[in-house]
Amino acid sequence: MRLGVYYYPDHWPEKRWSRDFDLMEEANIEIVKTAEFAWTKMEPEKGEFNFSWLERAIDELSDRGIRVVLGTPTAAPPAWIINNDESILPVDEKGNRTSFGARRHYCPNHPGYKEHTRRIVDAMGAKFGDDNNILGWVIDNELHGSCYCEYCKSEFHEWLKEKYETLDRLNESWGTEFWSQTYTDWSQIPTPKATTIRGAHNPGLHLDYYRFISDSWVKYQQLQIDVLEPLIDNQWITHNSMFRNYNGIDYSKLNNNLDLVSWDNYPLLTGQREDSSVAEAHDMARGLGGTGYWVMEQQSGPAGWQSMAKTPQEGQIRLWAYQSIARGADTIIFFRWRTCRTGTEQFWHGVLDHHGEPGRRYQEVKQLGQELDDIGDEIAPEGVPSSVVVIKDYQTLWAFDIQPNSSSMNYNEEISKYHKSLYDQNIPIDEITPRENFENYRFILAPNLYLVSDTLSARLVDFVREGGTLLLSFRSGVKERKSNKVVNTKLPGKLKKLVGATVEDYTTLAKSPWKSDESDELSEKPPMVEFVCQGLSGTVGKASIWVEALNPKQAKPIANYKNGMFDNQPAITINNFGKGQVMYVGTSLTERLHKVLARWMIDQFSLRDTLNTPNGVEAIWRGEHEVLFLLNHNPKAKKVDLTDNFCDLLSGDQRAKIQIPPFGVKVLKRDNN
Ligand code: GLA
Ligand code: ZN
Repeated sequence: MRLGVYYYPDHWPEKRWSRDFDLMEEANIEIVKTAEFAWTKMEPEKGEFNFSWLERAIDELSDRGIRVVLGTPTAAPPAWIINNDESILPVDEKGNRTSFGARRHYCPNHPGYKEHTRRIVDAMGAKFGDDNNILGWVIDNELHGSCYCEYCKSEFHEWLKEKYETLDRLNESWGTEFWSQTYTDWSQIPTPKATTIRGAHNPGLHLDYYRFISDSWVKYQQLQIDVLEPLIDNQWITHNSMFRNYNGIDYSKLNNNLDLVSWDNYPLLTGQREDSSVAEAHDMARGLGGTGYWVMEQQSGPAGWQSMAKTPQEGQIRLWAYQSIARGADTIIFFRWRTCRTGTEQFWHGVLDHHGEPGRRYQEVKQLGQELDDIGDEIAPEGVPSSVVVIKDYQTLWAFDIQPNSSSMNYNEEISKYHKSLYDQNIPIDEITPRENFENYRFILAPNLYLVSDTLSARLVDFVREGGTLLLSFRSGVKERKSNKVVNTKLPGKLKKLVGATVEDYTTLAKSPWKSDESDELSEKPPMVEFVCQGLSGTVGKASIWVEALNPKQAKPIANYKNGMFDNQPAITINNFGKGQVMYVGTSLTERLHKVLARWMIDQFSLRDTLNTPNGVEAIWRGEHEVLFLLNHNPKAKKVDLTDNFCDLLSGDQRAKIQIPPFGVKVLKRDNN
């Protein structure tokens, strides 16, 4: 378990460096991440390189045993590059070229920019590729964004040619006879720029463009990997994925050719409840790369560019670091060391404030560094053993982005609600995309699996036939995965046989997209969902967003609607299939219903139960029942009763009833004596 910080030596006078590095050493900081925005400093003019300042900083750090991770600086192209060729700047949906400034101001498909990229990455690799003080490389920074320039357009055409081979196939797949969109030459195909009617592009074309943009980033990253790989010795390559904020890239594909998965964690920035939504991102990092991933950036102060979010309360920085470790990370780099005095991120606070003197946040990091030094070796290297997995499908996410189906539909939130309902019961759960293997899990949750191919449905059939349990929910199987065409059978389409029920009728419960205001009196009240099976009966809660009336053939209803137009019709069904079972939830559930359902599923499918803890106290194992982490995300102390004998690694205590302070942490080892 190691800690690090982001530090930009180029932002501070050299005579200050030794003070910073001493403070780092005292806090057990072992890693510094740097250089990712220092292109002009490293290459002030085309082909003129200056790495001496960076070498001096690396040397001084290595004197203290601190090793370095380098970022390639391509997220911030220098003014001298852009000034020379403004066509590098991305073009937005309305056709406007964006301006120099901020960052990420480049098109990943621009041939000239690719040349600039190769040159700087090659120079850095040649300089530092065999330096023992360099642990590894981060490509670019939080890749994301879209572009609609002419280069993208012609690359899109190439991408389409590869996918469809002939225009006839493309026309057939997109159904271009609709509104006379048949293409007779590849060059006629537009990018989905703004049209006369907003959001009205052909859904086949539009989804392909999302896929193309995601692939463009994967390819752009690959270009850098290809330059670096031959130049490096014993160094790894990763990318700091931003699972929680940027949804335009399929992170499974992006991480495919990397040595290490890493992601950026700012708990106070997004998500309704930070503990569960951060846990979900950890579960995705682990789902994609296994245990031992890195948190490349971890929040260490109040954050914001123009306005700030709240400051982490006392204990929270330490708590988030332990949460990272508990869920499978083994290195945590705090963003950033000292808060900068200039630039867009003046208010994005680091471990030290602007004045540079150690304060509350530094002391907390230092305490953590000391603790990890003491107990780090006791923490099992194996990860979190989970038999449950939730599938988040980026293609489905994009398809819902193009057509939400219901104006209240939010695919990410649906996924999170299922994840959270099990997280709240301390069930370890991985998150993956359909590209990963799911065959070894026991229980798959695949809410709203909207786009389904023959291959995907066959894999799910095999999984259930062999004894797995699958949960699907409303709007599953609606579309052909490749084309984004609606299927021509009853829903849930290719999943019908598995589900053992069909969708006979459906309606949105959300506001009509064509009306600005809907009077409550006239509109339909959301129906209730009433459980009707053993162990659940009578529990009632509201349906929301969307309701489907199910017609069970082989399946059995476990819940019905009450009131409303689908009164008494099945809302949730369960079907025996092969040696396994399939549940289908025809509506979006409230938090209360999710809770009831999660508890029932844990019993019904004997999912591994960790421990009952009070609300907001996360309990998770690392290793097969070796080290138990108890993480109190509440601003109040909480008590937990332990059934087994444990020893608190941090205090040496051996009590069965423990009290965890506000935002406190217990790391417990099972006592086998
Ligand atoms: C991101 C980036 C960092 C930094 C922080 C703070 O996550 O990767 O470079 O900009 O946000 O804004
Ligand atoms: Zn472009």
